[in-house]
Amino acid sequence: MAVKPRKRDSEALVAITAHPCEGLLGRIRVPGDKSISHRALMLGALAVGETRIAGLLEAEDVLATARALGRLGAEVGRDDDGLWRVWGRGLGGLVAPEDVLDLGNSGTGARLMMGILAGHPLTAVLTGDASLRSRPMRRVAAPLQQMGAMITAREGCRLPLTLTGSAEPLPIRYRLPVASAQVKSAVLLAGLTAPGQTSVIEPAPTRDHSERMLRHFGAEVAVEDRQEDDAEVREIRLTGQPELQAAELQVPGDPSSAAFPAVAALLLPGAEVTIEGVGLNLLRSGLYETLREMGAEIREENRRELGGEPVADLVVRASSLSGVSVPAARAPRMIDEYPILAVAAACAEGATVMEGLGELRVKESDRLASMAAGLAACGVEVEEGADRLVVKGRGGRVPGGNPAPIATRLDHRIAMSFLVLGLAAERPVIIDDGRPIDTSFPGFASLMAGLGARLEEAAP
Ligand code: S3P
Repeated sequence: MAVKPRKRDSEALVAITAHPCEGLLGRIRVPGDKSISHRALMLGALAVGETRIAGLLEAEDVLATARALGRLGAEVGRDDDGLWRVWGRGLGGLVAPEDVLDLGNSGTGARLMMGILAGHPLTAVLTGDASLRSRPMRRVAAPLQQMGAMITAREGCRLPLTLTGSAEPLPIRYRLPVASAQVKSAVLLAGLTAPGQTSVIEPAPTRDHSERMLRHFGAEVAVEDRQEDDAEVREIRLTGQPELQAAELQVPGDPSSAAFPAVAALLLPGAEVTIEGVGLNLLRSGLYETLREMGAEIREENRRELGGEPVADLVVRASSLSGVSVPAARAPRMIDEYPILAVAAACAEGATVMEGLGELRVKESDRLASMAAGLAACGVEVEEGADRLVVKGRGGRVPGGNPAPIATRLDHRIAMSFLVLGLAAERPVIIDDGRPIDTSFPGFASLMAGLGARLEEAAP
């Protein structure tokens, strides 16, 4: 089966109400890891031969990447049994797209695609939904221009943009101004067609799925951790122009998606939920570490390796949580999890102080503002700073009963976070639109319902 064109967005928002409930019970699997799924399709398209991917996340973000790769000449399809196949064009073999590449809601899709395109002598136009079109692209455009790409973008370096890549980009040594796995990955992907070594220096280690997967496809990637002026930095060196060979891949469950049922289970008295096969890469597992510091009972069972990534089954039991201080240094390891951590904090006893959160302002929405406004509307005491959030929990259920629906601002994680809050509130919580959830977690509502949660498409 080929990848179907995207359905036209209907204008109507789909409000969802989460009703307070008790003990969730059951054993579930969450969909595949979003970061790994994007990379699997992309590297498959750049390799020679047929790449087979099991457990790919079949959500809007990843499907947008699959469609874009199709427009660039790679053949991407799904078997009836759910296995995805990519027939790669070989490094440098992508063709100029005849139409615009629409990456939907996905910053990862857009930024990594820009890296790939920078190393191909073709011109492409990239766009996305209103959220993606508002997000900063200069952070990726700047190093790619140094490598030889020509990029013309809308004001403020926003999408839509036109990118003309180069057959043989210049290898660069790039020091990331912000810790960003997307920017690191874009530079490494552009470096694939460059001669010699392309290197990226990170101010703090960010998720390393690109490095792991590049090696899996046959590229040479060296990683060095060292001390520089009292700071730990990490340098990643890629040797350009490798022979990328098609690979077999298995995508683990997404720890960022598992976070929603996990926090729901922690907050609801009597709950016990097992989440099978969750990816626990150390550079993604900061939330689970923080929750344990707050007093959460989260047990790991059956630890194993899946497709070069550590995974385990998580057994999560209802727990009394206490507020903690989350150090800024941990932010890169749990950057997508602050919205759901803020929900856990709202039900904990005492203040939770989260620092170093400047990057949250440029995610699918301004997540600091989205969380602060939504929590306040649900009766939670919260302080929003320029790059910090303090949530003052009273231990136990929050009031809920927000008078107007929570504005989810095209942000899947804001939508799911407030639905979890509603389960742990005294009165229902309503969000204005549940559709963004499909960008990362298709089937969220029915999976939660299977555990005993009540989520309804209607006003309370
Ligand atoms: C991602 C990196 C992170 C994260 C995003 C996925 C990736 O973004 O927020 O959801 O797959 O590389 P940044 O690199 O902008 O921090």
